[in-house]
Amino acid sequence: MKKKVVSFSNNAQTIIYTNAIWEKNIDTVLAKRNTVIITDKNVYRKHKAKFAHRICIVIAAGEAHKQQHTVDTIIAKLIQLGCDRQTFLLGVGGGVVTDITGYVASVFMRGIAFGFAPTSLLAMVDASIGGKNGVDVGIYKNIVGTINQPQFLFYDIHFLQTLPVSEWRNGFAEIIKHGAILNKKLFKEVAANNIKDYQQNTTLLNKLIQTNAYLKIGIVQSDMFEKAARKLLNFGHTLGHAIENTYKLTHGQAISIGMIAAAQISETLNGKPCKESLIQVFKKYGLPVHITFKVNSIMQILLKDKKKTTNGVHYVLLHEIGNAYYKNLEPDFIKQQLQQFIQA
Ligand SMILES: NC(=O)c1ccc[n+]([C@@H]2O[C@H](COP(=O)([O-])OP(=O)(O)OC[C@H]3O[C@@H](n4cnc5c(N)ncnc54)[C@H](O)[C@@H]3O)[C@@H](O)[C@H]2O)c1
Repeated sequence: MKKKVVSFSNNAQTIIYTNAIWEKNIDTVLAKRNTVIITDKNVYRKHKAKFAHRICIVIAAGEAHKQQHTVDTIIAKLIQLGCDRQTFLLGVGGGVVTDITGYVASVFMRGIAFGFAPTSLLAMVDASIGGKNGVDVGIYKNIVGTINQPQFLFYDIHFLQTLPVSEWRNGFAEIIKHGAILNKKLFKEVAANNIKDYQQNTTLLNKLIQTNAYLKIGIVQSDMFEKAARKLLNFGHTLGHAIENTYKLTHGQAISIGMIAAAQISETLNGKPCKESLIQVFKKYGLPVHITFKVNSIMQILLKDKKKTTNGVHYVLLHEIGNAYYKNLEPDFIKQQLQQFIQA
């Protein structure tokens, strides 16, 4: 196991444990903490032995449960268990578990310490990093939450052995996003490989996860509270969040479609061609590139997003692959572009 400490602008620090093995290392990492694990049913069932003799709260799996009622259930259970300010919460799961765990830990007794062992590819490369946490309210994604850093991230890639292929695809949506907005070399590498190449080569997979994790960490270190650079990570998320719960898409599927729409808008605004290369790589990774939706109702949801401004929405666009920027777009322009997008 390797250990690296990263610091953030508010003096928070997160320890990054890579090449970790749960059975060998988790007790050392948790040391004498009074730990309560939060996980979901799928992860619990597939990794039962790892949870034996540990205090676990097991929640229902999936985005539909990333809602306040799950938070209330967890908090009731923490009270029942006699938890206090010394209790440490360890979220073991995908992005739903890490988002909820970070949120519960931020509000229970006005804040207790927490850490994550991400178990989905998406959580390893993105969701567990950067301290954003929270829940959806109805169809409105991540509309409630805080920004609060975990004490540690524990990377044991053996968890991925039980991850369904559909979830590998979702993870690649965020990886392709990182390449598209920040790193052309990463984009080219992913475009040249496929899911099997990464599944069959642990060294390649480890390198991919660490490259992506540190890309995101770097952005969060430069702008923890999303005043500038961190906004770029929302590439594909403006439309993505609006369609995700409405059309019951996975996060990866929703943002892939969102990225294609954003690439189309980028090209309209004189960006270099980028849409076609994104389409090719999403198709290779089994991700959707198009959906037909009701523009008027999606516009209504989109205009309630956290990224809205007084006269529009901060939209993330591409100058070219590997080079992103954000720009305020007016609602009428977005609507016209989305109409073109669904007709394409
Ligand atoms: N906080 C952030 O910065 C941030 C960034 C990106 C995404 N997110 C959020 O993350 C969520 C998506 O994350 P996700 O794709 O990990 O979703 P998820 O947590 O729902 O996990 C996807 C599915 O995989 C299962 N699973 C997870 N690990 C497994 C394993 N090792 N073996 C078998 N099954 C496993 C889960 O039970 C679930 O069914 C969304 O809610 C999104 O909003 C947050």
